[in-house]
Amino acid sequence: MALIALYLLITTAVIILICELGKTKDSSKYLAIPIVRYSNFLPNFLNRLIFFFAGPSLIHYGYNKASAITLYKDVPYRILKADGDLIVLPQRYADELKHCPSSVLSSSDAQFENILGEYTDVLIESKLPSLTVSKRLIPMMNKLLPRIIEEMDHAFDAELPKCDENWASIDPYNTIFRLLVRSTSRIIAGPVMANNEEWIETVRTYTLNVGKTIALLRPFPDFLRPLVAKFLPSVKSLKEQMNYIKEDLFIPLILSRQEVKGDDFLQWMLDLADNDRDRDPDFLAQNLFIVMSLAVVHTSTMALTQTVFDLVVHLEYVPLLRDEIETALENGWKNGTFKEFLSMRRLDSFLRESQRLNPSSEVNFHRIAKTNIVLSDGLQIPAGTHICFPSGPFSRDNSIVANADKFAGFRWSDGRTHKSMTRIGVDNMHFGFGRQACPGRAFAAVMMKAILSRLITEYEMQFKNGVVERPANLVNGEQIFPNLRIKVFLKKIGSV
Ligand code: HEM
Repeated sequence: MALIALYLLITTAVIILICELGKTKDSSKYLAIPIVRYSNFLPNFLNRLIFFFAGPSLIHYGYNKASAITLYKDVPYRILKADGDLIVLPQRYADELKHCPSSVLSSSDAQFENILGEYTDVLIESKLPSLTVSKRLIPMMNKLLPRIIEEMDHAFDAELPKCDENWASIDPYNTIFRLLVRSTSRIIAGPVMANNEEWIETVRTYTLNVGKTIALLRPFPDFLRPLVAKFLPSVKSLKEQMNYIKEDLFIPLILSRQEVKGDDFLQWMLDLADNDRDRDPDFLAQNLFIVMSLAVVHTSTMALTQTVFDLVVHLEYVPLLRDEIETALENGWKNGTFKEFLSMRRLDSFLRESQRLNPSSEVNFHRIAKTNIVLSDGLQIPAGTHICFPSGPFSRDNSIVANADKFAGFRWSDGRTHKSMTRIGVDNMHFGFGRQACPGRAFAAVMMKAILSRLITEYEMQFKNGVVERPANLVNGEQIFPNLRIKVFLKKIGSV
């Protein structure tokens, strides 16, 4: 095992060296800005390699660094990634850039690059999923909630272990993932999906295969990726899984909708599609599956897993949260309404605080410039440059969030003021920022509250042997993941 790791490390270093010599996607020629690297004494190809293991700390280091003239957080700086450069912009550009349309700064191009769309086959080039979320899903949430709660209730019965007498363990990521797939499948593609075990497992393993493919291919320069991808089992599995989803599940379902209409995300996509490409069953099936697996389920599962870890570490919040939940849910959890979940402000604040300190990425507002841009102070951003804001450092900056190092679960709802987790700003860019920010965040917030309110009121939670330390996160470049190996132990205490 150690030998394989060493082999991979050396191969990666050699490859990045080749890439460095080729200087692919290097913006240094155009942008005269400071470079943040692990060590000035190491060649850049090694600094690029180190970004994999030390991404978050390098981004923080860059943000907090001061030169003789200025603080780096006040100027753009360049981070060296294995496969290119990331231009990290200071807060002062936020207002100017938030209005930029996708024709000038493209979020989908940046996501396609981040997720290695060419190899993972994750297409993000259609506006239809986003439109369907904002024009149909969000306005209908009130009406949809009873359906979701009904499925979630079955999902809790099926997925949570029996623990009335004794503590029982769960893998939080897997359990939460399955709870979310079961509860959302019905509104995504109708009742036929909700209990289809092969579908549920395909969504889960597909997401893992996307993650594996990105982690294994990212260190390689562009020109070597097609070759390496040929040998990766995860790339092969992704193709097989996508074929299964298209041929066996979604395309027949899409064709059947010509006879009988449904009332779900798939139908809303069909109704809103206004061009041949979006209407094409093959393309539609792929788009729908990607929305489901990556946008809807994976992101919310990561955020919820982090929140569960925070709850276990900060048990002092639990009685206050239980109080709020029980007061809000006048007719019990099973009859919970959209308004009641919305009224859980402490829970909302706890979720926001958890996301602030454990976001899924240290940078956000990933955009690729589609044209040469000149900002109001003269900064030139050449076409093709990958820019972002340091959302992690912003939300840990004392000048932006008071006592930023402290976990204060109710800081966003102190009884007088309330800043919802879905309210985006410089202090909260974890759902993105500006015109292309996450359109599904209100849905994510309600789903997370529905799951958490039941976990909090029905179970006691702890780590193995009552350990109270928070498990360290895993990193891959700028990305952050909860530790997936950590188990959480549950004991049933009642029902709400
Ligand atoms: C905790 C859960 C979630 C997180 C942290 C999250 C985060 C994000 C982020 C960071 C972006 C990129 C925004 C930008 O660059 O400005 C995004 C885009 C998007 N999200 Fe979410 N998201 C979550 C849940 C959801 C859900 C539940 C849905 C659907 C119901 C959804 C649908 C989308 C879509 C369609 C886009 C693409 C928007 C576009 O390209 O215009 N997300 N999300």
